Amino acid sequence: MAKPTAPSTPRPWSGRFAGALHPRIARFNASIGFDIRLLPYDVAGSLAHVQMLGACGILSREEAEQIRQGLEQIEKEVAEGIFQPDPEAEDVHYAVERRLVALVGEVGKKLHTGRSRNDQVATDLRLYLRDEIDTIRQALWELRGVLLDLASQHVETILPGYTHLQRAQPISLAHHLLAYEEMLWRDWQRLGRVREEVNVCPLGSGALAGTSLPIDRQLVAHLLGFERISANSLDAVSDRDYLVEFHAAASLILVHLSRLSEELILWATQEFGFVALTDACATGSSLMPQKKNPDVLELVRGKTGRVFGHLQALLVTLKGLPLAYNKDLQEDKEGLFDTVDTVKACLEAMTILLREGIQFQTQRMEAAVQEDFSNATDVADYLVRKGIPFRAAHDLVGQIVRTCVAEGILLKDLPLERWKSFHRAFEEDIFAAIDPRQVVAARLSAGGTGFAVVREALQRAQARYQQTEPAEEPPLPPSSPGSGLPLES
Ligand code: ARG
Repeated sequence: MAKPTAPSTPRPWSGRFAGALHPRIARFNASIGFDIRLLPYDVAGSLAHVQMLGACGILSREEAEQIRQGLEQIEKEVAEGIFQPDPEAEDVHYAVERRLVALVGEVGKKLHTGRSRNDQVATDLRLYLRDEIDTIRQALWELRGVLLDLASQHVETILPGYTHLQRAQPISLAHHLLAYEEMLWRDWQRLGRVREEVNVCPLGSGALAGTSLPIDRQLVAHLLGFERISANSLDAVSDRDYLVEFHAAASLILVHLSRLSEELILWATQEFGFVALTDACATGSSLMPQKKNPDVLELVRGKTGRVFGHLQALLVTLKGLPLAYNKDLQEDKEGLFDTVDTVKACLEAMTILLREGIQFQTQRMEAAVQEDFSNATDVADYLVRKGIPFRAAHDLVGQIVRTCVAEGILLKDLPLERWKSFHRAFEEDIFAAIDPRQVVAARLSAGGTGFAVVREALQRAQARYQQTEPAEEPPLPPSSPGSGLPLES
């Protein structure tokens, strides 16, 4: 095994140490391999920090200006994709600082005045996640739009509704689609609430206890677009609650996408045949030439597990951590990045799939409704309207269904005399009452599947969809603060 040698690049903390870090341990300790994703946010945070240091007279105007120029150069390199992190840098924070010193010389070493990597990494994470939440909310919004388009085409398309995966009562297809829009609307709102928790500035908390230098935390928060500053320095550097909340919100998004996936997978089976997969989103079998597989939907359903896993992993990492920062917290990142990537990928795939990957087989849906007993409740409701207690009506209709099943006929095939033989309250209008289209149309209770109610629900959903249209411009590009703003507050 290689013998530890003195590092060619000193580490941010090397003053205290006479010996060198074992190269394998250096690698074990490093986060640069994954936290490089925070690069633009690290630079943005540093720009705001140095502007504050200049404004507060902690650095001279000239020093702050030199550092600012160096950071802007780095920002440019990042934007152009030519930034090369020092391979010896332990993490993204130190990579930026190393490059800064290379660009502007000794003065670059003043950037880290009054802060620690502990409050810095918490700040970077919050800036990063705030942006990603905005992107995910936009993706949710687009998927909601596709569901609303489909719903508007299918208010009067009817299909069997299920409980226990047994045919229960006929419903409007739009009602079914709007149920998913409702879930995604909640997801959109929920992420908005998580964003508020994320949008708090921890910078200025130092390593754990604050700083003796006269910093202005409000100014930094303002420059970075944060809503408020954290209240307790110990909490600020060790708090990852907002990540847990994000993982939980992401998990619910995946629950919803996974349920939709499962349903569409079922509907695409030959047994159901309620949707056909187009060539745009289906894949074939390498062995069975006749097959068309719903891989996209299966992948969405499958990826749900890893997102749940990251939530669990983070909770376990946090449990039992003493205050304040502990290196365990470095483990918060890879799961977070993977959850962000997974949620975005699944939302995009589902949007494409609903837009061009499936065709509803509406005739097949309608035919299914015609051929079953899903109108049995409506016979009971018919009797209720004639004054018969529901329990008695339910019992009687059960007997009628049993008779029909034994004879291999449907309710609509029973002649009026036979209806009357079961109960004299039955009249000619029983046939209209059990027509599936009429059955759906009649469910006019608030939130029900009656066509008129669904049309109103659709309008409400469309109105809130338009109100929540994402802003054309992203609110704050990651690297914009600092530049162009006056050095004095
Ligand atoms: N890479 C570290 C992390 O991700 C940054 C903070 C390091 N702080 C420290 N005291 N070692 O958490």
